[in-house]
Amino acid sequence: VSLATYNTFRFDYCAEYFAIADTLDSLKALLAWAKRFQQTVTMIGGGSNLLISADISGLVIINRLAGIGAREHSGNLVSLTVAAGENWHQVVEYAVTQGWYGIENLALIPGTAGAAPVQNIGAYGVEIQNTLARVQVINKNTSDVYWINAKDCGFGYRDSYFKGQWKDRLLITSIELSLKKQSELLLSYGGLSERIEGKPTLQAVFDTVCRVRSDKLPDPVVLANSGSFFKNPIVSQVQHKKLKERFPSLVSFPVEEGFKLAAGWLIDQAGWKGKQYKGVGVYEKQALVLVNYLETNAAPLLELETQIKQSILDQYGVQLEREPVQLPLNVGGQH
Ligand code: EPU
Repeated sequence: VSLATYNTFRFDYCAEYFAIADTLDSLKALLAWAKRFQQTVTMIGGGSNLLISADISGLVIINRLAGIGAREHSGNLVSLTVAAGENWHQVVEYAVTQGWYGIENLALIPGTAGAAPVQNIGAYGVEIQNTLARVQVINKNTSDVYWINAKDCGFGYRDSYFKGQWKDRLLITSIELSLKKQSELLLSYGGLSERIEGKPTLQAVFDTVCRVRSDKLPDPVVLANSGSFFKNPIVSQVQHKKLKERFPSLVSFPVEEGFKLAAGWLIDQAGWKGKQYKGVGVYEKQALVLVNYLETNAAPLLELETQIKQSILDQYGVQLEREPVQLPLNVGGQH
């Protein structure tokens, strides 16, 4: 089965076996089948943070587990339980409509709720780990279903154990968010406060984030892409100081370990923005996003990635790291 419509880069690789799971029971039955026939299992959510670069052997399962449930507690808290296959943006929209705070800055991020913790999605100063209470998983081997507290998931910047040490073992089936009925809004990042029209309400923040994102980021339905292709690299104080002397307009933010650099700025300044290479390219409005105009296989994109990484290393002495998850799972070792 072709996976072209199940990844937003639209690369045309095949799954040896393919199934869609829309209930926990059907997922368990699929895992039992895979175990019986000794097939590896790969799960795909919205396919919007994936780089598929070869055919996938074994069973590919599309996660369509559905359902949203809310529990309002006596104080300020609301627990929102969301099945992994739900569309993330619709979850954000639902929370905002209910007047619940916490994920409004994460509007319009493509993909499913279950994929959100894998890379700890983040935008405009908020990450999902800030509101995530726990994650429900299923063990691929035993089909045991259990909850893991968010603090035990190894969350970091665009990172978690789901992307690392747990990737061969666990699949996410549901997430529980802790939202608030009253809260402050976070407007200090990405020029949100300047862009907001009128009074900064929950709804206004949501609307503004949607507007800013649609202005800057390509809609994967229109132009194939997987969002930011590189992470914003973190450099030491010393390296930052040297770079800032050479490039006074360098965009950076202080973080615990030193400074986080805007990779989009580095790539843009190195002259890559809007560049095309074979059927792929660097998006014209945001250099951190690689786009696929017409390729069906990932090789040209991987070549472009290598060229960009080399160019950034040569010009700034900075090593870029890829952000999307690569499939097949065992390919790895890309950094
Ligand atoms: N910049 C340029 N040229 C470019 C792109 C960016 O000069 O081509 C500069 C901008 O002017 C700005 C700075 O770089 O000063 C940062 O750019 P932006 O605000 O667009 O955010 P980003 O750091 O490029 C990150 C996330 C996005 C997230 C935005 C908004 C990563 C890898 N990316 O991008 O996340 O939406 O911040 O908070 O952290 C994603 O992960 O897929 C993603 C889109």
